[in-house]
Amino acid sequence: MTLLEVKDLSLTIEGKTIFKDVNFKVSKGEIHALIGVNGCGKSSIASVLMGLISPTKGSIFLAGEDVTNVSITDRAKRGLTLAWQEPTRFEGISVKQYLELSGKTKDMIQIRNALNAVGLLPSLYLSRKVDKSLSGGERKRIELASVFLLKPKIAILDEIDSGVDYIAIEQVLETVKSIASKGSVLLITHQEEFLKIANVATLICNGIVLRTGNPNEISKYYKYECAFCDDEERRKNPLEEFLNVTG
Ligand SMILES: Nc1ncnc2c1ncn2[C@@H]1O[C@H](COP(=O)(O)OP(=O)(O)O)[C@@H](O)[C@H]1O
Ligand SMILES: [Mg+2]
Repeated sequence: MTLLEVKDLSLTIEGKTIFKDVNFKVSKGEIHALIGVNGCGKSSIASVLMGLISPTKGSIFLAGEDVTNVSITDRAKRGLTLAWQEPTRFEGISVKQYLELSGKTKDMIQIRNALNAVGLLPSLYLSRKVDKSLSGGERKRIELASVFLLKPKIAILDEIDSGVDYIAIEQVLETVKSIASKGSVLLITHQEEFLKIANVATLICNGIVLRTGNPNEISKYYKYECAFCDDEERRKNPLEEFLNVTG
């Protein structure tokens, strides 16, 4: 079952093409990686999917329904959630209050489970304040815990690894799998390593989808992404080009 579908989605801001004719589908239970180098348009796609910016062209479907002109709140009600690349700080409130609010539950067993899932000890973190005293990686993990609690139909996770150390990252990836098992995940990343937990991957460069497919295959192309993305002719035949590059 397709939970999210994007058709010919394009965005131009002040004459600059941010992304163009983007197409992909995310099915139930799936982790779909949207992978590409910095500045290729991933976060802009996330903003358009969530409804913060209107696309210049194209459509967005949630569970088969066209939501291209639907408000952010209504998209959220339909089960779409976005974890930001730069999580907002709720200055002053405790981690417990933050998780109750954004995870929409007061069940302390679930809240503790969510913190444990992302590798943060509830006894150490529940009463901490959500403010500058938390590191970037801790904030990211707390935000991921709130997505885990929400059990969204579709979670868009934008660069969930920023600031997260290499030990915690394994727990973060396990949490992503768990979120996907109850819904689906669009995993936005520039990290090739994350492809290992994805079922499908879409490779994007300069706002253009180069290909969608098996994450192992996409991983091979990723390194040569920049060699193709400026050259329309070479992009038409990335496999031959890839074989040329690798010899
Ligand atoms: N509001 C905007 N006005 C002009 N350029 C923008 C705007 N938002 C993003 N961009 C540009 O669009 C490109 C894609 O940005 P972004 O979506 O953040 O990329 P990514 O998340 O893949 O790193 C970048 O070159 C960025 O500078
Ligand atoms: Mg980004």
